[in-house]
Amino acid sequence: MALCFVTRRLPGDAVARLRAEHDVDVWPGELPPSPQELRDRCANAEGLLCLLTEQIDAELLAAAPRLRAVSNFAVGTDNIDVAAVRARGIEIGVTPDVLTGATADLAFALMMAVARRLPEAEAAVRDGGWRTWEPQGWLGVDVHGATLVIVGPGRIGAAVARRAAGFDMRVLTVGRHDDLHAALAQADFVSLHTPLTAATRHLLDAEALAVMKPTAVLVNTARGAVVDQVALAAALHEGRLGGAGLDVTDPEPLPPDDPLLQAPNVIVVPHIGSATLAARSRIADLAVENLLAGLAGRPLPHAAPAPVPASRSS
Ligand code: DGY
Repeated sequence: MALCFVTRRLPGDAVARLRAEHDVDVWPGELPPSPQELRDRCANAEGLLCLLTEQIDAELLAAAPRLRAVSNFAVGTDNIDVAAVRARGIEIGVTPDVLTGATADLAFALMMAVARRLPEAEAAVRDGGWRTWEPQGWLGVDVHGATLVIVGPGRIGAAVARRAAGFDMRVLTVGRHDDLHAALAQADFVSLHTPLTAATRHLLDAEALAVMKPTAVLVNTARGAVVDQVALAAALHEGRLGGAGLDVTDPEPLPPDDPLLQAPNVIVVPHIGSATLAARSRIADLAVENLLAGLAGRPLPHAAPAPVPASRSS
């Protein structure tokens, strides 16, 4: 029996399965443990099931000498110093596939909501702004038939492309060897699906945003730092971009006074791409399977790939 630290309560019955085999300490808070609390709880732990809100770095590893299995409750690993963990001979469990559909659904929902100005229209109904049927009221842009640029040809990008086919969209998928700016210049919508790496940090910078059409809509369900948020806020405020639908921001949570929230035609939601009960329960199942395998010395069902600094695909 190994001591495992699980950094939050999880949906479904996966943690019960972990408890059947190991001693399990579950962080009871609604908010994540602080770095010090994380180090304290990991001092004797052999297994760690963590979330994207926890930084798993050299300091944490030094404070957790018995650690031999790490499982991330996410497909991304940007909260983890992957090289440092692997240098300890520990593979990192990740949760691909189980959140692909839910995240692609949300990317499409954001695209539709920004294109058709749903928050603004809905607010008008509630605050008495709906006075009559207005021929020129709340005009948006068509999603069907538009050109969608998908940045990142991985699982979630492909799932968004399948949804776009049903809307008769023209889809251009951009991988790390493709000309991003040439594709962005053609886009009515851009949807980001890259992991956050050294190569993709601020991939959508001021220069990239400047080649986009002033009517184009940017959707980000990947990681906030893939976009230079200051440049994005400026482009939106100055009318150089049509709108943005963001599930992820930099930082998270986004402070309520961030200039992005005052920009026109922006929707920001709190990193809910995988937030369906089914998806989150399957993520928990897979995260626990990975942890059990790691503790038993078996190959993980899904281990993080070795870091590829120049990668753009998820
Ligand atoms: C992930 O798994 O990386 C997501 O962002 C969390 O849903």
